[in-house]
Amino acid sequence: MAGCGGSDDAGSSGGGDDKITLGFSQVGAESGWRTANTKSIQESAASAGIDLKFSDAQGKQENQIKAIRSFITQRVDVIAFSPVVESGWGTVLKEAKDAGIPVILTDRAIDDPDTSLYKTFIGSDFVAEGKKAGDWLVKEYEGKTDPVNIVELQGTPGAAPANDRKAGFGDVIKADPKFKVVASQTGQFTRTDGKAVMETFLKSQPKIDVLYAHNDDMGLGAIEAIEAAGKKPGTDIKIITVDAVKDGMTALSEGKINFIVECSPLLGPQLMDLVKKVQDGQTIPQRVLTEETTFTPEQAKEVLADRKY
Ligand code: AHR
Repeated sequence: MAGCGGSDDAGSSGGGDDKITLGFSQVGAESGWRTANTKSIQESAASAGIDLKFSDAQGKQENQIKAIRSFITQRVDVIAFSPVVESGWGTVLKEAKDAGIPVILTDRAIDDPDTSLYKTFIGSDFVAEGKKAGDWLVKEYEGKTDPVNIVELQGTPGAAPANDRKAGFGDVIKADPKFKVVASQTGQFTRTDGKAVMETFLKSQPKIDVLYAHNDDMGLGAIEAIEAAGKKPGTDIKIITVDAVKDGMTALSEGKINFIVECSPLLGPQLMDLVKKVQDGQTIPQRVLTEETTFTPEQAKEVLADRKY
């Protein structure tokens, strides 16, 4: 298991002073969003005076489970993690609960019905994000009757944002039969896979009108594939993505992406606040929702210079 950043990694012993010790297991470094999220958590822990034990799971659930067990052994005060996938957390979270260590879910939910396994879940509503993407598409093709062929680049299989962004989008577009998802495959939330999968879509699909990518990075990889195929992204193929990281917003301002649904990675300050409250024995809400917006190319141009990530 690779540790990075923070004051220590998951293999070291717990803090010996009065500082709160937070064990945090991150998904990995698959996207620009994730890099910004890691930075937000590390910087906020430092400014909140919290001793952060940061562990990078490199996209593997087994590494996250090992990290959580290590945090339990070290007797950290609070454990937080962003689950790689939704299922399979019951056993290890029960171990944390039995050890009396509170757990906070950040960014992604789990599908365990036992909500007593964690104190709160802070993050976005991914279904709502998928619906916003679908709403834009419906409006864009309002009054038109020709079939609209859509290809979809899904996030990591089994991850909450992949499941929910697909579901939310599908729910909106199913109302009009002209929208057809002609191909849908994972691009693992990475630029490399987004490009490779888009290359296969371009070869196998005779007509692609729209690309819906579950994050900016996959969309940016797909743009490379589209340009290499001699087509104009944003014009020949309309592109919708999720996240609104700086590279995505740049492509949006250039008209290569048509619409971005924001997903904020800046969860650090709220997380540290929740960690302090939990440690203090205060009651906190079971769900803390992140506030987000959407961007058109014109709106991207207005905010790009001030975009922090
Ligand atoms: O869980 C949030 C998602 O994970 C982001 O949208 C994506 O870019 C990241 O990899």
